[in-house]
Formats: sequence, structure tokens, C-alpha cells
Amino acid sequence: MDVKFSPVIANATNFPEAVIRATPGFGLTDIFPLWQPDTLKQCTFTRNGRAAIGIAALQLMQQGLTNTVLLPAYHCPALVEPFLWSGYQVKFYPVKTDLTVDLTLFQSLLTPDVTHCLLVRFFGFKQNIEQLIALGSAANKVIIEDCAHALNDFITGLQQPDPRIAARITSINKMLPTIDGGLLYMHDQPTLQPQHCSWYEELKGIAFLLRISKLIRKVSRRKPDVLNVKASTCSERSVYKYFQPSDLTSASFRHTKQILRCSNLDVVKARRQANYLYLVHALTDTTAGRCLYPAVGDEAPYVLPFLLRNEQDFQRLRMQRIQVLRWEEIAASDCLVSESYRSRLVQLPCHHKLKPADLDYIINAIHNLGEN
Ligand SMILES: Cc1ncc(COP(=O)(O)O)c(C=O)c1O
Repeated sequence: MDVKFSPVIANATNFPEAVIRATPGFGLTDIFPLWQPDTLKQCTFTRNGRAAIGIAALQLMQQGLTNTVLLPAYHCPALVEPFLWSGYQVKFYPVKTDLTVDLTLFQSLLTPDVTHCLLVRFFGFKQNIEQLIALGSAANKVIIEDCAHALNDFITGLQQPDPRIAARITSINKMLPTIDGGLLYMHDQPTLQPQHCSWYEELKGIAFLLRISKLIRKVSRRKPDVLNVKASTCSERSVYKYFQPSDLTSASFRHTKQILRCSNLDVVKARRQANYLYLVHALTDTTAGRCLYPAVGDEAPYVLPFLLRNEQDFQRLRMQRIQVLRWEEIAASDCLVSESYRSRLVQLPCHHKLKPADLDYIINAIHNLGEN
């Protein structure tokens, strides 16, 4: 099956630099004290979440068969491309307006040709993933759980791994102030083990993290691509827009591991929940749109999914220097929700380092939209 991604809607190069960013910035308090439990030893550190998916996809391929994976119709291409690169056929399952999946429909899509399915915890929320795992497992499909937005749940799950799930992945830099990082958990450690970069690359990464422009300029005299830290670790150019095959062999930076080990994820979760609820409360009466999930359970939200009434408001928020995100480039499918959400569902920042003034800035910006 040929996969065609929709084009971008808004050109990010036209937006001014964000003052309120989607992910938290690094501070020196992020590297102490050391806290992390041993459970991380069971995981493979990867360059990013997409590389973790790529390694899992390769490891879990069934020999002598056409491998076909069911993916959610609502996605970013970074989740699809590793499967395309690995040679999988891909099929999409539709999502409902709350991003849960219709169970009867999902079950009907678990046909004999489907070998794998990937299930996502969108924006850090569970949706109905438990039921999907049960259905996928009952149909003997290889299940990959995508916790790219749910670092806390990924780590909690390491304490009691679910034998029905063949691989779990997460993304570190979506939640924590790092510039790269993914984790992969498989019951049997993958044979493909990514290696650390050189110390020179490590230093460049640290300089980039610390935004030490002087040092960056100095180093860049030696190597002109220093600002492109992530890309600089790979020589092979990819035909894919987001997935770099060379990322498969490269572990996260060493300092990314350190930041993860020093992060108190309970505190991160509590702050994110408080920020999320503060935003939800203040946005209940806006006419600009609505929060997709008006409450949080035990989850650590990655962002606040907000459904705009007017899709042009995405641009207005970006012009006000708020780094709202949106998945515009979804693959063609018959899912009408995904088609509508590619322009209307935006991701508002709610990370743990936002200050009350930042949250009020977001709230004001959204209320102003509602008045226009
Ligand atoms: C649901 C989901 N899975 C996987 C990925 C890939 O994660 P990363 O950006 O760390 O490669 C992303 C983000 O692009 C994502 O949103």
C-alpha cells in the first residue's frame, strides 16, 4: 500500500520564535539529585522515539511473511515512517472524536493478514488502550505500545511488564528538558544495540542544550553543521522526512540519560497535572474551542489537546509566540476525524516549567481568539 501524507498547512518558518515553548527548557537543577530506579537497566536508550519504533519493528518482523501493521489514522509521520522503511505494509484504524477507538471496528480490522498493531497513548492519556491491547492479544497480533507522550506510564509499566505487549517505546525529550532521547523496552533485549556517539558529539550536544552560543560558534568553525546537532550524528540522508535510519544505531546522548536519572517524575507529573487543570478551568467558557479532555486521571499530560472552532486560530496563536503544535501531515485514510483534526486539534503547552504568568498568557491569547 502506497502511503501519501497530507502536505503541511502552515509554514513554521513564518512564525516568530516562541516565548512559550511546547517543551521545558534546561536548568542546572535538572542534573541533580540522582533519583532514578534500576528499572531503566532493562531498557535500550535510543536517539528518539521513532528510532525505538524502528528497532522494535525490525526485531519483531516475522520471517517469510508479509508483515502488516495497523496504525492509528491520527498520527504524526514519525510514527509511520519506521514501518515503511522496514518494509511493512501499513493499514490505518480510525479514531473517534475523543481519540478512543471503536472496539467492534478495531476487531473487524484484525484480519489474518495483519501481523502487528501499534497502540498510542495520545498526549499522555490512556483513551481505551487497555481494551485494544486485549483485542489485539486475543487475535494473536504483535502489539507495540507507543508511549511517546507518556514517559511516566512507560516507566511505571516497567515494574510489571505486560506479557501481551511485545515492545513499548517512549520519547524522553517530549517531557524532559533534553534535546534527544527515546527508550525501548522489549522482554528480550533487542540484538540491535545503539551505541553512544563520540565525546566530541556529546560536547556539541551539551553546548546546544546549554545554548552556549559562544562555544557553539567556536566549535562550528571546526564543523559547520554544529547547530544541526541531531542531524550531524548521521551521514546517510533519508528519503523520509522525519525518520533517519542512521538513528537506529545511535543511543541517546549520555547527558540525556543523566537528566532522566535526575528527574523526579512524580513532581513532573504533579506540576503538569496542576498546569493542565488550571488551563482547563480558565478555558471552560471560551468560544474559541474546547478542551478535548476536561479532566486528568492518574496520567501525566504531555500537552493539552484543544479543538479549535476556527482552524486559522492556530496561526494566530503561533504569531503570539506560543508554540502550539498540530499534526497536519497525516496519511490519507477514510478517518474523517483525523482529517478534521489535522487542522483543528492543537496541542497547548502545559509542561512542568511553565509559570503562572505563562499559563495566563496562553489563556488570554485563547480568550482573545474567541472574541474575534
Ligand atoms: C505518538 C508518537 N509516537 C512516536 C513519535 C516519535 O517520537 P520522537 O519524536 O521522539 O522520535 C511521536 C512524535 O513525533 C509521536 O507523537
